Amino acid sequence: MSILVKNLKHTYMRKTPFEKDALKGISLEIKKGEFVAIIGHTGSGKSTLLQHFNGLLLPTDGEICIDGERITKKNLLSIRRKVGFVFQYPEHQLFEDTVYKDIAFGLKRFKLTDEEVRERVLYASKLVGLDERLFERSVFELSGGEKRRVAVCGVLVSNPSYLILDEPASGLDSKGKRDMLALLQKLNESGVTVILVSHSMDDVAEVAGRVIVMKDGAVVLDGTPLEVFSQRDYLSSLDLDIPEVTRMFMDFADRSGLDIPVVIKKQEGVALIRQLIAEGRLLK
Ligand SMILES: Nc1ncnc2c1ncn2[C@@H]1O[C@H](COP(=O)(O)OP(=O)(O)OP(=O)(O)O)[C@@H](O)[C@H]1O
Ligand SMILES: [Mg+2]
Repeated sequence: MSILVKNLKHTYMRKTPFEKDALKGISLEIKKGEFVAIIGHTGSGKSTLLQHFNGLLLPTDGEICIDGERITKKNLLSIRRKVGFVFQYPEHQLFEDTVYKDIAFGLKRFKLTDEEVRERVLYASKLVGLDERLFERSVFELSGGEKRRVAVCGVLVSNPSYLILDEPASGLDSKGKRDMLALLQKLNESGVTVILVSHSMDDVAEVAGRVIVMKDGAVVLDGTPLEVFSQRDYLSSLDLDIPEVTRMFMDFADRSGLDIPVVIKKQEGVALIRQLIAEGRLLK
């Protein structure tokens, strides 16, 4: 059970003067249950790659298989039942006149009774923490955070095995962001495979189990957050940051000469300081 990508190439505007090779032969496998973050400089091909996972874009060359089934024009419906996609801008996927209708939209293809639809909508809106009182409002009257919740909710009603999100925390305030990341973690713990693109290295370090780094349409690093964020200089050459706490402790190690491990999560930093104090190493 996995998303298998074999030598995927994607060229936009083929055979025009604007032709652009956005993906240049990507091969990777994402196993069921993983929590994967894709990072990379702007224009490196992250969104293009994501959109292949549920057939929003089809390969120019190469292939994608979902649980062994190759994505083609003919099986998009069955693929999209398994693979839910949340767009970078929620406005791009919200179009019904009320919140309820918007969330329920994706269920039309399942031929459920009104009662079953209502149950699923209620279940998913509880998961994402969306207030039922918003159901009859127009989606266009909602705040950015509420819109994003509606967009995620509209994908979760279909119970996807794979959840793909393009910058799900962008534009949210810090509480909205924390809530969104906690929701994704909870979904992942319940068995949903989560794949997201993020520009926030702090967020990636906190939630992802695997980080894929892209550059110019290719994958240049693929490993655990610790493996990837240990490579500060290489990431910097790609104009990518490392998490704040990682940078802080690396600078501290440089200046103090203390031999301390790389930390990528805030809690690890706190634990490390406690350990250094307990060992008396901070007093030297
Ligand atoms: N519809 C399109 N038509 C032509 N070129 C495109 C199109 N969409 C993207 N591109 C080009 O393909 C390349 C990869 O774009 P993509 O949107 O996948 O990058 P990205 O890594 O998601 O960037 P960002 O971080 O800014 O969202 C870029 O050079 C972009 O200009
Ligand atoms: Mg993008």
